[in-house]
Amino acid sequence: MKEDPKYDRYLAELKNLATNKHLRDLKSLEKSPSGKVIWNGKEYLNLSSNDYLGLASDIDLYNSFLNEIKQESNLTKYGLAGMSSRLLTGNASPYEKLENLLSDLYNTESALVFNSGYHANIGIIPALSQKGDLIISDELIHASMIDGLRLSKAERKRFNHLDYDHLELILKEERANYDQVFIIAESLYSMNGDCTDLKKVVDLKNKYNAFLYLDEAHALGVRGIKGLGLAEEYNLISEIDLLVGTFGKAIASQGAFIVCKKSIKDFLVNKMRSLIFTTALPPICVSWTHFIMERISDYNEKRIHLNTISQKFKNALQSKPGVNLSNSHIIPLITGDNTSATQLAEKLQSQNFLAFPIRTPTVPENTARIRFSLTANLLWKDLLTLSTIL
Ligand SMILES: Cc1ncc(COP(=O)(O)O)c(C=O)c1O
Repeated sequence: MKEDPKYDRYLAELKNLATNKHLRDLKSLEKSPSGKVIWNGKEYLNLSSNDYLGLASDIDLYNSFLNEIKQESNLTKYGLAGMSSRLLTGNASPYEKLENLLSDLYNTESALVFNSGYHANIGIIPALSQKGDLIISDELIHASMIDGLRLSKAERKRFNHLDYDHLELILKEERANYDQVFIIAESLYSMNGDCTDLKKVVDLKNKYNAFLYLDEAHALGVRGIKGLGLAEEYNLISEIDLLVGTFGKAIASQGAFIVCKKSIKDFLVNKMRSLIFTTALPPICVSWTHFIMERISDYNEKRIHLNTISQKFKNALQSKPGVNLSNSHIIPLITGDNTSATQLAEKLQSQNFLAFPIRTPTVPENTARIRFSLTANLLWKDLLTLSTIL
């Protein structure tokens, strides 16, 4: 049957994406109890997961949470639906409990929880910034922050990735021309596995009287003795004006948070559109996040194991072309174009290793890659085998 012509534009673009090997699709995967993943009936070692501490496949942890639920049929705490915005009737008691826990852990005046890191990043930035302000961001910040910048009325400039001389140059030239200035960075970059030099950025934001917005999505749970992220590792939590973390990665849940001054929280509750105009998370989800965050400092052995296998894997790959010897558990192997990344991923799949290719436009042209995202439930013997086939 002939397709209605009003769909032609979309079909043409899909064809174009397929020709250029940019086409994305949704894969149906199942987790196996061993922490592996089953795809099209075959079991793989999962090297593309953000479950950095392995908590999402920890059956004992699930069972102890589920036992808690069985003992208490409390819909306010364990209800499966948010039902309305937090500003109406969706603000179930676990929210307050989780926010109190977060501000205690980070020793900050307050904390505010959101539905996701995407909601946080598209909402906080445009709420806090306005015309007459300047936002200076690292060129490799995540798409969610870029979308936040697009929604902001402030002007924007980018500094070269991790190039603090460049950042200072912009601050020096521009600071006096703007009211507020916001510096935006990730603590651990998800596609490169490299880290912000927090000491340098904090010195600059103090020198030029700017706000520092730090997204700890990939460092939360993994870095710092208590697992609070890179700011904890640097002992600089109190210097980060706007510290954002997400629960969808190492915390094995869903949602995000900011820890900040009470005035900022109160302002966001009044002005942040992606907090105000969305249904609250289900209480059971907020309770589960609380359950994990309460235990986050107990997972030091997992953090040490993750660090050890990451280091050994990087040592094993040292001489391989394209390997970026990052300073984290995220290790990219840059292949160049999209086709070569896809081919390498297929080769790995044939040997039961699942590491999806990350292609342009997610990463810049000619830097398509396999992003090895290591997790604490991986064993060194498996990574050693992987290193021999790369
Ligand atoms: C740095 C960063 N921030 C935010 C997000 C979005 O978080 P969420 O998945 O909770 O929407 C991601 C997701 O991958 C991310 O990598």
